[in-house]
Amino acid sequence: MSQTMKLCPLLGNYYVIGVISLVLILGSLNVKEAECRVVYGMDNIQYPAINCRKHSAVLTDFGGVGDGKTSNTMAFRSAISKLSQCASDGGAQLDESEWPQLPVLPSYGRGRDAAAGRFSSLIFGTNLADVVITGQNGTIDGQGSYWWDKFHKNQLNLTRPYTIEIMYSDQIQISNLTLVNSPSCNIIIQGLTILAPVDSPNTDGIDPDSCTNTRIEDSFIVSGDDCIAVKSGWDEYGIKFGMPTQHLVIRRITCISPDSAMIALGSEMSGGIQDVRAEDLTAINTESAVRVKTAVGRGAYVKDIFVKGLNLNTMKYVFWMTGSYGSHPDPNFDPKALPNITGINYRDVVAKNVTYSAKLEGTTNDPFTGICISNVSIQVSEQQKKLQWNCTDVAGVTSGVTPTTCPLLPEKGKFDCPFPTDKLPIEDVQLKTCSFI
Ligand SMILES: *[C@@H]1O[C@H](CO)[C@@H](O)[C@H](O)[C@H]1NC(C)=O
Ligand SMILES: *[C@@H]1O[C@H](CO)[C@@H](O)[C@H](O)[C@H]1NC(C)=O
Ligand SMILES: *[C@@H]1O[C@H](CO)[C@@H](O)[C@H](O)[C@H]1NC(C)=O
Ligand SMILES: *[C@@H]1O[C@H](CO)[C@@H](O)[C@H](O)[C@H]1NC(C)=O
Ligand SMILES: *[C@@H]1O[C@H](CO)[C@@H](O)[C@H](O)[C@H]1NC(C)=O
Ligand SMILES: *[C@@H]1O[C@H](CO)[C@@H](O)[C@H](O)[C@H]1NC(C)=O
Ligand SMILES: *[C@@H]1O[C@H](CO)[C@@H](O)[C@H](O)[C@H]1NC(C)=O
Repeated sequence: MSQTMKLCPLLGNYYVIGVISLVLILGSLNVKEAECRVVYGMDNIQYPAINCRKHSAVLTDFGGVGDGKTSNTMAFRSAISKLSQCASDGGAQLDESEWPQLPVLPSYGRGRDAAAGRFSSLIFGTNLADVVITGQNGTIDGQGSYWWDKFHKNQLNLTRPYTIEIMYSDQIQISNLTLVNSPSCNIIIQGLTILAPVDSPNTDGIDPDSCTNTRIEDSFIVSGDDCIAVKSGWDEYGIKFGMPTQHLVIRRITCISPDSAMIALGSEMSGGIQDVRAEDLTAINTESAVRVKTAVGRGAYVKDIFVKGLNLNTMKYVFWMTGSYGSHPDPNFDPKALPNITGINYRDVVAKNVTYSAKLEGTTNDPFTGICISNVSIQVSEQQKKLQWNCTDVAGVTSGVTPTTCPLLPEKGKFDCPFPTDKLPIEDVQLKTCSFI
């Protein structure tokens, strides 16, 4: 067993293309030449990208073998080193012994699984601009079972790697890939299918963490943890680092996650989370929909969250907020650092086979305010619990919601909760159609 990237039968070769920037293309094509070379105007294969590329390299020409066993580290290294002569960036590492270690993120202060540090992610990049990772629906198998096993046996002294991790970067496009069995999570964007066993530990689907201007759309995620987890650092480390996640668009996502949320905001949100627009989402057999998770010591805020158009089937909670999530990096968090949770808007929700309509629990002496819920129809399951809306330390208003809400969220006549009508810059980014041989 090795942690090499497994190239599934779906996928023939692994392509690395780049000019000033790097593109990884996963597809099933046949190319004879190796090395970095100019792509002529041949157009039998097309792919959408932020910008088109002039040079390409093919991993199999560097000795890459897609059998799920062979270490492709040297092949990646040679391909990328070759490409670096015409492209100035890139990297990918495999076997655990060859797996580089990274210091902890400054905004987290420690690793999530283990304090000492963390493994580099399978596909990792930092300070990049204009990167495209795409694959005609090819598959990257993160072979996470190796890591989940170590996690369960408590044998990890560093935090598990992600399948894809991009830090401090701009203009990143990840599209049309199937990511399976990620050791822990993946990040960013469009047309992804992400499959992890629903009992695998902390396998968030997509985690935008201290990201500005992110668009996640048209993806299908099956996960053992939150399908999308929006984060921005942990307690005193996140407060000090101070980088929010903001201007995030999430749309047309389908999620299956029996023990977690479709979208979690937090619990690590100490750099703040604001201006999130989530629309046209489907969840099936999922614990909750768009959940706020925070705790004393987190500081910062979650505000201006807009959710519209949820189609939910088989849920434990339709609405769930938790102000006492706990989970601290160390005992040095500031008990006076109370998070400000305000302006959380939901509208147009249809839910079937629901156990509890809502469990809304703010932080004691720090209520969650400005909650707005309108046009919601919840069909509770036969084993319906008596207290459908359990609300503590929250304030807000509702309109057209069944079953009847709690006294802290009174019905205030007929209105729609707000959803922005302006467009974020990221919504206007169009992909060009590129071709290569
Ligand atoms: C992509 O692949 C996954 C599984 O490999 C499949 O379920 C999905 O339908 C595929 N999507 C497209 C658009 O072909
Ligand atoms: C981590 O664990 C490995 C064995 O699992 C051991 O060889 C290594 O020394 C440990 N590293 C640290 C920093 O404890
Ligand atoms: C994803 O695949 C679909 C179907 O093959 C294609 O229409 C679309 O342009 C692709 N998008 C990207 C960003 O690669
Ligand atoms: C929370 O944020 C809102 C909006 O930015 C602001 O109006 C309010 O005063 C803040 N509340 C606290 C307790 O800081
Ligand atoms: C209420 O929500 C349903 C389901 O999302 C939607 O079809 C309908 O148009 C909404 N009604 C109003 C008045 O917005
Ligand atoms: C309803 O939800 C329960 C779990 O609460 C599940 O076991 C059952 O299969 C669901 N029924 C339908 C018709 O989806
Ligand atoms: C309602 O929520 C509070 C706070 O989380 C909890 O202590 C209480 O047990 C819940 N009540 C019921 C009836 O579930």
